[in-house]
Amino acid sequence: MDNKQLLNIAEGMREKSYSPYSGYRVGAALLCADDSVVTGCNVENISYGGTICAERTAFVKAISEGKRHFSKLAISVSGEELGYPCGICLQFLSEFVGAEFEVICGNNKGEYKSYLFSELLPFAFSSKSVNRVEK
Ligand code: THU
Repeated sequence: MDNKQLLNIAEGMREKSYSPYSGYRVGAALLCADDSVVTGCNVENISYGGTICAERTAFVKAISEGKRHFSKLAISVSGEELGYPCGICLQFLSEFVGAEFEVICGNNKGEYKSYLFSELLPFAFSSKSVNRVEK
């Protein structure tokens, strides 16, 4: 599946977004190593803090279905600016993807740019750091 096809799926997922508070619709499409695509959208909550982003929705769905290996992720947002994963999502993703994982970031006009995960989060906090702590 090419980047544009994956982005098209993410664009369609914007319609599923539950975002009555921000009005900012985000769709995500995650290509898994087994060639399946798992989708997600942002799901907001009146507590605000209980909101979950589209990217984490897709990953939580995939991981809870037993998938562990991922190829690339497309994100599409309802705004004019390209949508980038937030810091919490980047940290969450870093648990499951490596530096070469591809992230395709799109806007409401179908424009997009593709990044390596290491470009978006070059100094990921990982278990490597924790394991080096003296006990
Ligand atoms: N949002 C995402 O879905 N992904 C991100 O990476 C950034 C933010 C959502 C959360 C909230 O529903 C809305 O965008 C505005 O912050």
